[in-house]
Amino acid sequence: MLVNKENPFTREINNNDLVLFSKSLYEKSRQIYIEKRCALYLRRMLNDVNEYSLKHGYNEVVLDEGFRTREYQMEIMGYYKEAEGAQKAEARVAPADASEHRTGLGVDFSLIINAPRSLRENADDHLYHYLGNDRWYKVDPEEDDPEMKWLRDNSYKYGFILRYPKGKEEVLGYMMEPWHFRFVGSPEVAKEIFDKGLTLEEYVNSKVKKLERKF
Ligand code: DAL
Ligand code: ZN
Repeated sequence: MLVNKENPFTREINNNDLVLFSKSLYEKSRQIYIEKRCALYLRRMLNDVNEYSLKHGYNEVVLDEGFRTREYQMEIMGYYKEAEGAQKAEARVAPADASEHRTGLGVDFSLIINAPRSLRENADDHLYHYLGNDRWYKVDPEEDDPEMKWLRDNSYKYGFILRYPKGKEEVLGYMMEPWHFRFVGSPEVAKEIFDKGLTLEEYVNSKVKKLERKF
């Protein structure tokens, strides 16, 4: 299923297709739901990336966002429009029905960083949230963060792809998002997309073209 500005997701997802995956660590009342087909894969992927992180002394990876209601997506857009202006916000956040988060198949990751409170005196911007006990919740990890690099290189094994990669900003209409991954149904499909270095749009188009040649 392709969801973008040209292909909006206008229906409401059936609640039976969602499962509660976890709770937000910094917005205590926020529960994170995802599409149930990807829950087991996501669990395994998080387990494996965290095993890797622990082994190398890197940071813990947690699920930050999964399914979003239309209202919540609009609320996020409103927040960024106010904070950064419309142009920047639209390069970062999808319009209400153009977000993959509406399907429960798009996921965002954050990091738990161990560092003293004094690390960032003015840190309660939207990127860093202090959790207490010298732990920080870091939203929107960077491209060079080793945990995101691991996910970029290995997520296909769990059926996920990096959805907004560096270098594709022009065609996708969004800035790169090293933290946003998309479940594409199976590790086989994800591997093909990964091996060929395609965006989801390019992959779907290539399949349509192939079918058109056939019929
Ligand atoms: N940040 C991505 C584009 C979304 O809002 O779905
Ligand atoms: Zn996202």
